[in-house]
Amino acid sequence: MYSADPDRYTGRMPYRRCGKSGLALPEISLGCWHNFGHADDQHEARAILRRAFDRGVTHFDLANNYGPPPGSAEENVGRILAEDFAAHRDELVISTKAGHLMWDGPYGEWGSRKHLLSSLDQSLRRLRLDYVDIFYSHRPDPNTPLEETMSALATAVQQGKALYVGLSKYPLKRLKAAVKILKDMGVRCLIYQPPYSILNRWPEANGVHGWLAEKGIGSIVFSPLAQGMLTGKYLHGIPEGSRAARPEGFLRGEQVEQAHQQLRALAAIADEHGLPLQHLAIRWVLQQTAVTSALIGARTVAQLDDSLNAIHAPLLDEETLRRIDEISPIDPGRPPE
Ligand SMILES: NC(=O)c1ccc[n+]([C@@H]2O[C@H](COP(=O)([O-])OP(=O)(O)OC[C@H]3O[C@@H](n4cnc5c(N)ncnc54)[C@H](OP(=O)(O)O)[C@@H]3O)[C@@H](O)[C@H]2O)c1
Repeated sequence: MYSADPDRYTGRMPYRRCGKSGLALPEISLGCWHNFGHADDQHEARAILRRAFDRGVTHFDLANNYGPPPGSAEENVGRILAEDFAAHRDELVISTKAGHLMWDGPYGEWGSRKHLLSSLDQSLRRLRLDYVDIFYSHRPDPNTPLEETMSALATAVQQGKALYVGLSKYPLKRLKAAVKILKDMGVRCLIYQPPYSILNRWPEANGVHGWLAEKGIGSIVFSPLAQGMLTGKYLHGIPEGSRAARPEGFLRGEQVEQAHQQLRALAAIADEHGLPLQHLAIRWVLQQTAVTSALIGARTVAQLDDSLNAIHAPLLDEETLRRIDEISPIDPGRPPE
């Protein structure tokens, strides 16, 4: 039986307003992409959610397809929410998404009303919730009119199945158009979800973060540790059990190899500051324009605890930021997948 720590709101976690909205999010939020599927350790998964909440993390991020297998992260988190967090539903911001491949046939992915609204109903059943706090279009769909995808998000809000809507990985031009269409439908885009880390400065390079700040839309940045690369664990090869070593993991060995020089240089800077690399990496994203929350993942309670301690890392000075720029310059790079 879980009993939440009564001290969870006594300054353990700073909260930031999500753009110009009324919603505050924790500086560090927890994502359930990896480590919550049927393939993962259920005991640890439950312990991670409990510890996160006890440390003031009020936002858990999901998507229809998280697992493996797809859907199983929502099922497992849904069970834990029902068993442990039922009394705390109004203290939690739960998000989910639709758009990536989820089921067979022409309606199992992308941005049609058919996909988004059926998927949201499935997600609510798996999560055992009446509504999610944030429903995202997970990726732009080049073949569906934006009006249709946005109308599905608006319908989710009108039906009371989502309190807010968000967009993930939309390039700036499409993002601007989508936000305008939503506005015309009477729905405000609360939040944008891009990949962002010292190693991936795509939202900066493409002007996305500057525009979001100007418009008062929040940004929750995913993979701030570059899937674990910015933790120091890959400085001497690929350790057993790490994401890059696991077949179901999304981090490839060649990505780790390509980043090796940068990782060594960044680790040296972190060392000079007496910080672990992961704290430097999280502090860095939290210091950037437009960022509301760093959306981390954790495989163990120990990793979660460690990463949450990054909120105590001191602000990085101009000279350190400049040296980081040299190691990992702003580069438009590839658009997010
Ligand atoms: N919108 C989208 O398209 C999209 C895409 C991707 C992710 N996301 C969201 O972003 C969330 C976070 O993504 P992510 O898991 O890639 O984030 P991340 O924080 O960059 O990477 C998390 C991984 O790094 C390792 N790690 C974390 N803390 C550590 C520590 N203190 N010491 C050592 N290793 C540590 C663990 O991997 P090991 O297993 O190697 O230990 C952990 O699973 C996802 O869960 C999801 O909610 C969204």
